[in-house]
Amino acid sequence: MLRRIDKNQPKGFEFTKPNLNWVKKQIGKYPKDRKQSAVIPLLYKAQEQEGWVSKPAIEVIAKMLGMAPIRVYEVASFYFMFHLSPVGQKAHIQVCGTTPCMLRGSEKLIQICKEKISKHSKELSPDGQLSWEEVECIGACSNAPVIQVGSDYYEDLSADSFLNLLDKLIKDNPLPGSQKKRFSSEPEGLFKSSKRNLEESTNASVKLYLEATISEKNKK
Ligand code: FES
Repeated sequence: MLRRIDKNQPKGFEFTKPNLNWVKKQIGKYPKDRKQSAVIPLLYKAQEQEGWVSKPAIEVIAKMLGMAPIRVYEVASFYFMFHLSPVGQKAHIQVCGTTPCMLRGSEKLIQICKEKISKHSKELSPDGQLSWEEVECIGACSNAPVIQVGSDYYEDLSADSFLNLLDKLIKDNPLPGSQKKRFSSEPEGLFKSSKRNLEESTNASVKLYLEATISEKNKK
């Protein structure tokens, strides 16, 4: 996969104060002569802050870690989790296109992305709210087809539920997890039809998401 930095770059980059504190803590975890080991967490934080990894961000990180910028760029361009061009303001949708997801309908999801977001992957939608790309297996094959948005997975999708999800991603924060309301990857309907009853109404990942959303809202 050929990955290059975007032609349009911002003038500069600076970590926000809370992020800078976090970054310093990460660097402090490593021996002084091994601080380059913090390159992935720092790139990840820069992306979390800006939505993507720009050339100025690479240069700032390189300076902080005493590395040549090209070495940081090599890391950022190797892992597809790092976006090297701007992504949708509301969501960047990563559609898994590997065999299990493909057999369960990911090609339809990709077609919808082309029609509703942009003809080509990694391009912004006309209003700049969404972008998409096809990725390799993201490790949730038993709930295929699956998409990833940030750190959330939306699973068990169909063309209809995906269209619905696109709307919701723009308007609010849709609940991640199975879009067919499976608890995890049990056979469909198992917990409703058998005597087994679940004590929790949502699984651990959904709970984490809800906690994070609530604490985010409380901060505002
Ligand atoms: S093949 Fe799509 S998550 Fe594994």
